[in-house]
Amino acid sequence: MREILVTSALPYANGYIHLGHLVEYIQTDIWVRAMKAQGHQVTYVCADDAHGTAIMLKAEANGVTPEEQIASVKASHEADFSKFLINFDNYHSTHSEENKQFSELIYRRLNDAGHISTKDVEQLFDPEKQLFLADRFVKGTCPECDSPDQYGDNCEVCGTTYDATDLKDPHSTLSNATPVLKTSKHYFFDLPEFEQFLKDWTRSDNRLQTSVANKLQEWFEAGLASWDISRDAPYFGFQIPDTPSDEPDKYFYVWLDAPVGYMASFKNLCDKRAGTDQALDFDRYWAQENEHKTEVYHFIGKDIVYFHALFWPAMLAGSELRTPTGVFAHGFLMVNGEKMSKSRGTFIKAETYAEHLHPEYLRYYFASKLSDKVEDINLDLEDFMQKVNSDLVGKVVNIASRSAGFLVKKYDGMLSEICVESELLEDITKTGDEIAAAYENREFSRAMRLIMQCADKANEYIDAKKPWSLAKLEGTEQEVQDVCSVAINIFRQLMVYLAPVLPELTNNAKAFLNLDDLSFASRNEWLLGHKINKFKPLMQRIEEKDIEAMVEDSKASLTQADAPAATESSKPAAKDKTPATDANTDAEQIDYIGIEDFAKVEMKVAHVLECNHVEGADKLLQFTLDVGEDKPRNVFSGIRKFYEPEQLINKKVICVTNLAPRKMKFGVSEGMVLSTGEPKTGLTVVTLPDACVVGDVLA
Ligand code: 2FM
Ligand code: ZN
Repeated sequence: MREILVTSALPYANGYIHLGHLVEYIQTDIWVRAMKAQGHQVTYVCADDAHGTAIMLKAEANGVTPEEQIASVKASHEADFSKFLINFDNYHSTHSEENKQFSELIYRRLNDAGHISTKDVEQLFDPEKQLFLADRFVKGTCPECDSPDQYGDNCEVCGTTYDATDLKDPHSTLSNATPVLKTSKHYFFDLPEFEQFLKDWTRSDNRLQTSVANKLQEWFEAGLASWDISRDAPYFGFQIPDTPSDEPDKYFYVWLDAPVGYMASFKNLCDKRAGTDQALDFDRYWAQENEHKTEVYHFIGKDIVYFHALFWPAMLAGSELRTPTGVFAHGFLMVNGEKMSKSRGTFIKAETYAEHLHPEYLRYYFASKLSDKVEDINLDLEDFMQKVNSDLVGKVVNIASRSAGFLVKKYDGMLSEICVESELLEDITKTGDEIAAAYENREFSRAMRLIMQCADKANEYIDAKKPWSLAKLEGTEQEVQDVCSVAINIFRQLMVYLAPVLPELTNNAKAFLNLDDLSFASRNEWLLGHKINKFKPLMQRIEEKDIEAMVEDSKASLTQADAPAATESSKPAAKDKTPATDANTDAEQIDYIGIEDFAKVEMKVAHVLECNHVEGADKLLQFTLDVGEDKPRNVFSGIRKFYEPEQLINKKVICVTNLAPRKMKFGVSEGMVLSTGEPKTGLTVVTLPDACVVGDVLA
């Protein structure tokens, strides 16, 4: 029996769980259940990631203390996870005593070993809010192309990356104040010292997927930089211990104590279980000398590889603790082939989904898409409905519903004493070995394919034998019972195979089959002379109207007020660049505007008279727009990558007409053409019907 500790990434305590998050929790939960079903001792822990500026500001905006904020979010996260049958052994918080102890321990050990240093860092500071500003909290004019309203790390119009201090006319998105430069002392973890260790670690023992190891190679080639692990007050987190008493308080950057939260949650569980027959020994899993060969795996999204495959193992090795056995990254979730979108209703909260559709539908669909690769997966809502209805309802559940009735009605639920199709059953029992291996290797889509092939064989068998016709003939009682018994035996195998994915359905099937075990090993004992119970429908078909209602509800429920949890930046700290202002994005901040502010924006119907490339600007198109004034307007727009000028000539578009004219390298821009989408992945110019009258104001 292997002893395995498994984690999923810790969600931030400032937003709700959405379907994008669920890819990971469902993936991990399936793996954990499959490994448990194969007889291993597996412990699955997680926690809320409760620290950082974003959470502090969110609490402030909500008029509560950070502690109140994180408590209510934790309760909502736990409720969502339980709806989706995510079976954590423990769910804790990084704002916990255990986490404080371990973060301090790790820090002190790193410090004692000489891996921590200090350096003065100059950063933008909000004089009104009295806090240092992460890049996402500063906006200004791009130093390269003069586009206004760009964030402090890169320009979304021309794509240039820069330091926040390079922005022209910077302002704080928190207070609108003009930031000032201020210097403060920061604490750094010396990552470059671990370069050789990390190179060996990332390449050995199959710890990482190949594509991840290759990505790390690129990062090694670019050069590792020391990591800024401190933040100045005010900050919601743990104070760094042993700092000089006459200096301002310093806090651990949220990403320092976040992964320590894995250990903290596990320790919390060890304490809860102490003295019970499920007791766990903390050191058995985390001591550097891993004499018991325990295993630790982290499931994460591809955006946080840098933290888990570089910082985290280096921190652990530097503080004489064990490093993970494996780090498994997955891709992002797309919906209907595109990034999740609030306006299309495809940014779907876990809670909204669960109000309309059964969580096991999604568990199955994700399982049918997931592999061991770091690939994005697509939730195509039409395909989702077809697949669930055809595979689970049409193929799997159908096997039981077609055969159970005869057995219960005519044979008092008794299955035959012998199996008349042992070859078929043996074949399906044997396929179980491949299915088990596919689960273990995280090739869930392969496992689902193999399971459906077994279901097809069962249905072909039933179709060929036609028990419903047989039952009408004389003298076929035994044959009908035998055929239906084979079908029920195969159905039982399928329940064993699907149990990690569909825990609720298979649990109900367990009651119907009158069994108390669905472990992988149980499939080797066939059900002969066994009594089953009355069959009750195990799963309903998905109706199109339920999906439509979920999408409509998502459009309605996603106001900015409860926008999703922001992710912290995972950008590697580039060499020669002070990481203090890098890799420390705390969150997206919602800037509300009043209706009176919105009313200030004037948008008019514009007719595109001309549209041209701009020499020397590979991101821009130049428009000549008729907006119903005496003279046409000249407007630049950063959409060249997505359009040929001819596609836009003669179109009716929307122009913001009361933006202050902007002087750019290539001329003055006298407005803005509205588009939807993301400057990085694709922009679509909003076009209006021909019937719209040029110069009319949009209201
Ligand atoms: O990216 C995120 O959502 C982080 N909250 C994940 C933290 S995982 C671990 F390191 F704590
Ligand atoms: Zn720019």
